[in-house]
Order: sequence, then structure tokens, then C-alpha cells
Amino acid sequence: MVHGGRPLFGELEMPTAKNSILPILAAAVLTRGAVCIRRAPLLQDVETSMQLLAALGCPAVRAGQDLLLSCGGPVGDTVPRPLMAAMRSSIYYLAPMLARAGRARLSFPGGCRLGARPIDIHLEGLRAMGARVSAEGDQLECEAPDGLQGTRFHLRFPSVGATETLMMAAAAARGETVLTGVAREPEIRDLADFLNACGGKVRGAGTSRIIIRGGPLHGCEYTPIPDRITAQTVLCAGAICGGELLLRRTPFEPVRPLADFLAQAGCKVRRLDHDRVSLVSDGRLSALGELSTGVYPSFATDAGPLLAAAMLTADGTTRLRETIFTNRFACSTQFSKMGADLRCQGSVLEIRGVLALRGARMEASDLRGGAALVIAALAAEGESRIGGMEYIRRGYEDIGGMFGALGAVIGCRTQPEREHSTVRYGAICDRMIQE
Ligand code: UD1
Repeated sequence: MVHGGRPLFGELEMPTAKNSILPILAAAVLTRGAVCIRRAPLLQDVETSMQLLAALGCPAVRAGQDLLLSCGGPVGDTVPRPLMAAMRSSIYYLAPMLARAGRARLSFPGGCRLGARPIDIHLEGLRAMGARVSAEGDQLECEAPDGLQGTRFHLRFPSVGATETLMMAAAAARGETVLTGVAREPEIRDLADFLNACGGKVRGAGTSRIIIRGGPLHGCEYTPIPDRITAQTVLCAGAICGGELLLRRTPFEPVRPLADFLAQAGCKVRRLDHDRVSLVSDGRLSALGELSTGVYPSFATDAGPLLAAAMLTADGTTRLRETIFTNRFACSTQFSKMGADLRCQGSVLEIRGVLALRGARMEASDLRGGAALVIAALAAEGESRIGGMEYIRRGYEDIGGMFGALGAVIGCRTQPEREHSTVRYGAICDRMIQE
């Protein structure tokens, strides 16, 4: 529930990156010691990971902000279907199960409906490392009874997930693996740093060629990197609402493509030091013309809907081309309910800026699209209600609290219906909850 139309002011510290902690939790299954993950966010996908770890015999417990787990005992070889369906990142457990249990039985992963999300590159790479893979319907069986063997493998596309699967497999394989054509996202480097902190031998992460020597891994204490997508969510909200923001725990490089676009649109975005970024905006933005998403270090696909939201009231036309997923802009139909003027044709979203948005009832159907609806609602005049919070909660611990801390009037209601989490309810949110 949002009562929009206010500028945003204040400071925020970015939480730990969802896209880092999820593969790192899976990689912990490769280790035979105690693992402590510092600053673990309270995300739905982290909770799902904890259930999945428990199902494999590696229960994780929360201790304050930390997650503690130990995978020294036997590791299970089956992931229950509901856990596979709950998130795309369940697939990260395939390689660690193969390495530790010698086989893995699972169904194809679920996750946000961003279009077809095959896992053929994961499976092709595992086959190259000696795994036997068979699929029947949506059931997948993989075996590597004699362990995985290091190899040379080229990814036909720099898939983030496939790169991470194959890094984990290679860390447990005999001999050396050379992966080329890999993804270069900061989260890849973070996974490499985690594996190395566990005694792994991973070189080249962050470039398109990663070399990994397999071997035993021990436990460690590790703090994953901050969330660059959450940072971009806050920057886009500040840009359209206007205001002054200071983001801590925010290295500039990972948000640079968005920062450049926002600067072009009329905001002042500054790198203050190695982990602080500021934004000043008067909320009157200029449209950006043609732009597109791409693999890192290009403008991130996850930030596409967020920037689209920021452009809804910009002066002129923005044409945003999505190059990674086929259904990234499902949120555009919901933007229209707020009076936005846009057309989605194939992978291109054309936005003609309108003078003002008005509050509306909307429904999120994926994580970043949902966050984009929140951004637009923060800028809209009047009240908005956004359903589908279960998608948003997969990647934002408390989006209401986060924007509430910047002066927004926003409240969130958790499932089941009557239970309230949060934060600073404005009078209007209180009334809406009572209704
Ligand atoms: C990860 C991120 C997600 C981000 C995406 C792209 C996590 C938990 N999620 O998702 O937020 O939007 O990277 O930066 O880190 N593909 C294949 N075959 C495969 C694997 C992927 O064809 O075996 C295709 C996909 O269909 C998609 C593209 O490659 O079109 C990118 O997918 P990928 O990089 O694997 O994304 P995820 O790892 O799922």
C-alpha cells in the first residue's frame, strides 16, 4: 500500500546480494566444515534455500544476522518437487549433490516467469565433466558415481547460473577445468572468492575465462557482496520521485550503466568513495531514447523494469530493448493502470512520458517487475495497492521499510492476510489495512 507523490530523502545501507548468497549457500554443500555466512538477508529465496539445505541433510540456522551451516555429514540426492518449483536457484544444488552424493534427482526449476529458462548449458557442461544426465518429463536424473572429471568447456552463452553450476562442479572435480565464454557478473567473482575462502583454487572470475583446480573444501566465514539490484531500485525511485539519497555499501562500478542513464535523464549521480553513491533529482527527467539491456558489464536485465518505471513521467520517448529474457516487461500492463503511456512489442518497451501517474490497484507477477510497480506507485498521485508481494519478498527483505525510511508512506502486509510486517504505516495505509 503506497500513498505516492513525495520526494525521497535519506541514507540507506544496501543489504547482501540475493544473487550472491543463493549460489554461495549451495556451494557450502561442497564443504566439510562449518560455514558462517555473515549478513544473510531475510529473503523468501534464502528461506527456501534453508529448507532445501535441511532436505539434503545440511540444516542451516540463523544466529542474528548470520547463517550457520555444516555439511560434514552425508548429503541427500533428492530435492523435493515443491522446493524445485519455488525458485530458479534450486538448480544450484545439482552440482553440489552430484559431487557429494554421486547422483541428483530433481525436477526442472521454477522461479519468476520471465519466459523460457532452459538449463541446457548447465547440463551440457556437467556431461562434459563425466556426469550421466537423463530427463523424463520434468524429472531430471544425474549420476557421477565415480566423481566428476576436470575438462575444458565453452559456454555458448554467458549464463550466470550455468557458470556458477560449472564452477561448483569443477571445484569438486578431479584435476583442472577451464571454462570459457563465462558470465562476468560481480556475483560470479563473489562465488569464486567464497570457494577460495574454503580452500578452493579458482582463478580468472570476473573475466570470460575461469580456471579451477578441484580439491577438498573446508568451512569458512564469509560476507557476500552488497546487492547492486537493490541499489538500482532505490536510485530509480529517487530519480522519479525527486529528492536526495545517499547509498552506503554501494560500489559504483556495478551500478554505473544505470547511473549513466540517470545522469543523462537529468539526475546528479556521484561516486562519493569506494562504497558510497549519492543521487540528487528534482523528479523532472528527460527521456532516454534508445537503450538496451545486456550481460555484465552492460545495463542489467534486472534493472530494465526499474528504469522503465523511472521513465514513465520523463519528457519524451524511451525505447528499452530487453536482450536476455523474453518476458521481462510483464509489469507494463500494470503501469498502464496508473495512466502510463506505453507499448510493449516483442522485447521492446516503448514509453512515452506522461505528466503524472495516478495511484491504482496493481498485481506483481515477478520480482523486479513488482519492484518497478512500487517505484511507479511512490511517484504516483494518490493511493496504490500492489498485490503479488510474494514475488517482491523473494528479493527485498522489507521494501516497505526501506522506502519508509526515506520518507515514503508505504506499508506491507505479509501472508497470511492479517499478519502485518513493517514499518511506518501512514494514516492512509492504516485505513487501507482496516478495510
Ligand atoms: C541470473 C540472476 C537473474 C538475472 C540473470 C541474468 C540469480 C539468482 N539470478 O539468473 O537475476 O536476471 O542471471 O543476469 O543469479 N540460458 C540458456 N540455457 C541455460 C541457462 C540460461 O539458454 O542453460 C539462457 C536463459 O534462458 C536466459 C539467458 O540464458 O535467456 C540468461 O540466463 P542466466 O544468465 O542463466 O540467468 P539466471 O542464472 O537464471
